[in-house]
Amino acid sequence: MAKVEIEIDGKIVNARAGEMLIAVTDREGISVPRFCYHKKLSISASCRMCLVDVEGAPKPQPACSTPIADGMRIHTQNEKVKTSQKAVMEFLLINHPLDCPICDQGGECELQDVAMEYGSDVSRFTEGKRIVADSDIGALIQTDMTRCIHCTRCVRFGTEIAGIMEMGGIGRGEDLKIEPFLTEGIQSELSGNMIDVCPVGALTSKPFRYELRTWQMNSKHNIARHDLVGSNIHAQTYKGKVKRIVARDNDDVNETWISDRDRFSYEGLSHENRLLAPQIKVEGEWKEVEWSVALDFAVRGLSNNILNSHQTSQLGALASNTATLEEFHLLQKILREIGSENIDHRLNVKNLNDPIVLDSNIKIANLENVDHALIVGSYTRLEQPMINHRLRKASLKGATVDVINAMEFDFNYPINSENIIAPNKVAVTLAGVLKVILESKQKEIPDYLAPVKIDDSSSALAEKLLSADQSVIVLGEHIINSDSAASIANLITNIAEQTKSSTLDLSMSGNSMAANLAGFVPGKGGLDVNAMLKADLKAYILLDMYPHYDFHHSIKAIEALNKDDTFVISLNSFKDKDVANYSDVLLPIACFYETSGSHVNIEGEIQSFAAAVSAPSDSKPAWKVLKVLADLLELPGFHYADSTQVTSEITHQSHNTHVHDENINLTAKQGVHVIWQKSPYAIDVLSRHSTSLQMTKIGQINSAWMTKTTAKSLDISENDKYLGVPVVISNTVANNCVFINANHSTQGGGQT
Ligand code: SF4
Ligand code: FES
Repeated sequence: MAKVEIEIDGKIVNARAGEMLIAVTDREGISVPRFCYHKKLSISASCRMCLVDVEGAPKPQPACSTPIADGMRIHTQNEKVKTSQKAVMEFLLINHPLDCPICDQGGECELQDVAMEYGSDVSRFTEGKRIVADSDIGALIQTDMTRCIHCTRCVRFGTEIAGIMEMGGIGRGEDLKIEPFLTEGIQSELSGNMIDVCPVGALTSKPFRYELRTWQMNSKHNIARHDLVGSNIHAQTYKGKVKRIVARDNDDVNETWISDRDRFSYEGLSHENRLLAPQIKVEGEWKEVEWSVALDFAVRGLSNNILNSHQTSQLGALASNTATLEEFHLLQKILREIGSENIDHRLNVKNLNDPIVLDSNIKIANLENVDHALIVGSYTRLEQPMINHRLRKASLKGATVDVINAMEFDFNYPINSENIIAPNKVAVTLAGVLKVILESKQKEIPDYLAPVKIDDSSSALAEKLLSADQSVIVLGEHIINSDSAASIANLITNIAEQTKSSTLDLSMSGNSMAANLAGFVPGKGGLDVNAMLKADLKAYILLDMYPHYDFHHSIKAIEALNKDDTFVISLNSFKDKDVANYSDVLLPIACFYETSGSHVNIEGEIQSFAAAVSAPSDSKPAWKVLKVLADLLELPGFHYADSTQVTSEITHQSHNTHVHDENINLTAKQGVHVIWQKSPYAIDVLSRHSTSLQMTKIGQINSAWMTKTTAKSLDISENDKYLGVPVVISNTVANNCVFINANHSTQGGGQT
């Protein structure tokens, strides 16, 4: 767009020809009132609140839909503008209820703010106001539709961003109503953003209803740790409690949106299940004690079990993927200072002898610029909502998306080809893709590809990657427990190299990238999680781990940790029956928003945050607990005054833990393959304790999908349970495959 000069209120301003006037006034800090305009949504120009005077135009023009042209002279404050804006305001207030004193939007209401400036004290409208019945649209959003001013931001959000048209306008003129189309409530994983875009109190947060006024709260920058994006948020607090989470703009990360998981998980912080006091187990009975007693007990236990007998390799450390970068660093440092390399965070991976190694080499923001994406083993919409949002944007710009999945999923953009195959066939399909690509480039075919037969789907997938200018191959978490997971990752690397595609590894979750950066994986001679559990270690330090949810095979893990002669120190933010059974010391730690630390996103970007509130009761930030534990163990190098000193230590060292293994195994194991995945709102301890999230449709996903043929081969039917999860017969799943989305971890192993 050509650069031009225009004049606004007598000031010469640089702009780009064709951009909307409101974007220029916003950039220049010139205030123009608006309701329907939103910088991330299409322009509807329906409210007329943004009228300005453009010299030469016969009538005031809406700033949100007036394109800039060279030499334009605009007035935003003259009498003509003020009169127009006042008229629009009067018209909008005709039907708006005067219920600001009981409206949750009060204090952050765009209508209230604009009415203060442009409204009149007295209404000339004496007729009855319109009343609109409310609909119950689910556990997250409260509706008060009488307050709706028909700006259609929520409707446009649904169609343009969420990709599901859930709200729409019904009726005309006086009878126009904005309503949900579906009776079963809003389904989108991004639905809470409608609360943010609604300029009035028609859509507000249900869990926050009648809690507080916005001006009573402090707003603190924070980072959401539920996925690999690290969305930027404001944690809004009052009297030491997190009361609300709202999105914070960062165009490189989450733009202006956040997922419902990031928005509503905070509710779990005040759950009655929080672990609030240090406890030690004496003769099988739990006893609440002072911190100093609990830490002394922990040190004595480590001394008796491993240190005094110089059996340091008998110590293991495991952590869930919700820990901060600093917590991962301190725990691995304790282990390594003591002399153990038994360190791991990959609790849900069945086979760590041949782990997935795949570079992520595309920026989150650049995902929307690809012209082709191949998704392998992921329902990105529910697993990584903000990554999916970028792929959707790419799709809206014309990109094609192919998927290779074990089940058909409801993507919110068109899928070019959906290859529904069991995990044991993914490697062979990708090998076919690689072979076609190598043949088309007349390159040498390696021996392992020689026997691969090329089918139509491999050819079509290869063709798309070859013809794309900028493509990305996304690897998801569905294949982590496939026997050929490492081969799949290696094939993707090879295909990407040949087609100059970018790659994105979404097979991890939460803050796994931080764990990798901190070196929270076994070092030379160390054991991985599966080997540790088989090795009957004599002592463990466990960081916020919940075995029923975190392990690939929870029952075996619980049995291993429950051994009589194993001394277990558990740092937990919530109580857990299994943790209480196998632990000897329970140390209560801070949860999300209660500690300072860092998240590392899929780009490798370290995003640090301060604590928004203090940890409740006697619980403490885990980094402080680990520091004191290290001091009591008389380990060197733990003199940190705050967590930022830990962060800078990490950024000055590097761990080289990944070794790229080029082995590719194309043997397809027979039998029924199980893909076990935790439901989107069961992936971490905080989400699991958010009552509202659990009440949503997504929160209640707990099903084992399989075809009739697969069910028959397993001798089960629709009303049965498979591995403890209710069976759903569906022809959307690949044959010989069971796709499980469960609210707990696997009980019976990954593959039958
Ligand atoms: S509910 Fe809110 S966002 Fe939706 S049309 Fe009404 S005022 Fe606009
Ligand atoms: S903001 Fe311009 S018409 Fe609504």
